[in-house]
Amino acid sequence: MANPGGGDPGRCPLPHHSNHKFLPRQPLPDGHQQPSFAQILLVAPAVVLHRRTSVQPPFSRGDVAEVDSRCRDGRWSLQGMTALVTGGTKGIGYAIVEELAGLGATVHTCSRTEAEPNECLRQWEKKGFRITGSVCDLVSRPQREELINAVFHQFKGKLNILVNNAGTNIRKPTIGATAEDFSFVMATNLESAYHLCQIAHPLLKASGAGSVVFISSVGGVLSVSAGSVYEASKGAINQLTKSLACEWAKDNIRSNCVAPWATRTPLVEKK
Ligand SMILES: NC(=O)c1ccc[n+]([C@@H]2O[C@H](COP(=O)([O-])OP(=O)(O)OC[C@H]3O[C@@H](n4cnc5c(N)ncnc54)[C@H](OP(=O)(O)O)[C@@H]3O)[C@@H](O)[C@H]2O)c1
Repeated sequence: MANPGGGDPGRCPLPHHSNHKFLPRQPLPDGHQQPSFAQILLVAPAVVLHRRTSVQPPFSRGDVAEVDSRCRDGRWSLQGMTALVTGGTKGIGYAIVEELAGLGATVHTCSRTEAEPNECLRQWEKKGFRITGSVCDLVSRPQREELINAVFHQFKGKLNILVNNAGTNIRKPTIGATAEDFSFVMATNLESAYHLCQIAHPLLKASGAGSVVFISSVGGVLSVSAGSVYEASKGAINQLTKSLACEWAKDNIRSNCVAPWATRTPLVEKK
């Protein structure tokens, strides 16, 4: 197939509307109603993280080539699937976006800033990926609603995959954590994922084959000195995964959780 992006011929052609730009935030029209939509896998950094991080994956290059070749011959494909990955402009989220798009999915992502993400979109377009993005601060409830509204229109009401990846940490001893620290970490890591699941549910259900993936942490299972607020937020994500797996199975929506160990990303490097 011709590749209008001129990128990797193994990748997908771009949609015609792609313009390398993160969509600015669009307020909801007056009176608009939002569309009314386990397992926990502990992982050391693996193949999907390899492209963006300096951590050596427990795979040889031969394994990666084999994975790529399995994708190309169509036995493992996300062609025709739609995905929303939060926080896909850096670190683990960036790798997830590339992996899903490389397997053929059409992906939407978001971050709080615009300039760096626009550069990501340019790079992705060169590779022939079908990826779009929005500016969204996930701490804000109205901005989450705007994000899902944008995804609703972009994907014509159907979302196959929701990856709740965006996360943050303010690493402090328990006694030193302020009320603001607690609210900020919980809003970013837990409340935003919970709310996005709630408002994305109709889109996931409409897809007929929905999948929610939470990015938790080993710190949600064990104490890893990442700070008790962070670890509590990730422990709650692990339980949320199990609750949704049972509650939404009837809607054909799976719920899984990936709990990474330390991975060299901007989140870790800023400490
Ligand atoms: N790195 C590790 O060692 C590690 C280990 C275990 C678990 N995890 C988890 O893995 C996930 C990704 O971590 P990472 O290390 O890849 O983090 P990162 O390098 O800091 O990247 C985070 C991404 O999320 C976006 N983001 C952060 N806050 C946001 C908000 N309020 N609204 C919208 N976007 C937001 C960031 O973009 P902007 O800053 O431009 O908004 C960026 O794209 C997190 O849930 C983290 O807890 C990481």
